[in-house]
Amino acid sequence: MNRDKRRTVIAGNWKMNKTPREAFALVSEIAAAARGKDKCDVVLCVPFVDIPAAVAAAEGTNVAIGAQNVHFKESGAYTGEISAAMLVECGVKYVIVGHSERRQYFGETDETVRLRAKAAIDAGLTAIICVGEVIGQRQSGITNEVVSMQTKLALEGLTKEELSRVIIAYEPVWAIGTGLTATPEQAEEVCALIRRVIADLYDQEAADALTIQYGGSMNEKNAAELLAMENVDGGLIGGASLKPASFAAIIDAANA
Ligand code: PGA
Repeated sequence: MNRDKRRTVIAGNWKMNKTPREAFALVSEIAAAARGKDKCDVVLCVPFVDIPAAVAAAEGTNVAIGAQNVHFKESGAYTGEISAAMLVECGVKYVIVGHSERRQYFGETDETVRLRAKAAIDAGLTAIICVGEVIGQRQSGITNEVVSMQTKLALEGLTKEELSRVIIAYEPVWAIGTGLTATPEQAEEVCALIRRVIADLYDQEAADALTIQYGGSMNEKNAAELLAMENVDGGLIGGASLKPASFAAIIDAANA
């Protein structure tokens, strides 16, 4: 991370875990642990139905609440979907877009990821856009091509001003939920590549200001060495974000 140039952001992705009652308790516990740790931003991306409880528990703390997806239309006949305006009215500030589980299990494409990110940004949300290669792509040596392409397609048409409401999360799919973490060097290599892509698309100032997270089995044991990398500006954390002590230790590592 480089706190002189950009914000460090530690975000939890709860996935499909916790009921509203459990969410209230867990957000409260994490917010208590995060108090005064203001060298990073802390975000918890919770299931849609948990949002009101999570926002209530986070009120007056330095924890912001995020959602895990958003639809790109303002309203209409899209059964099961949630609009950006609905999230904003509930007090949501961030939304994950293009998580590999959405791409793998729910048919998200680079095109729908781009549309969702744009809708989120237009509504004033910060979009956490996920990119990352699957194991076969890494083994074939095409990680850089895959990640560059996903990044470029997701950002297509966004202005530099709009880019200031984007976070990119580099999440190698083989590291998600597997306990297999990318080494700090592997994470740094791809996060630095993403920053070069941004410099090419926009300019160096925009690239330097962009927060680029690493995600994939980040935990209290490996967070410090990952965050020590110049281009790793935080984490998108699944499993360990459900454990208050682990998540608090990651926030501590981002504040060290
Ligand atoms: P994990 O999940 O930390 O459990 O690997 C990360 C993510 O999917 O965002």
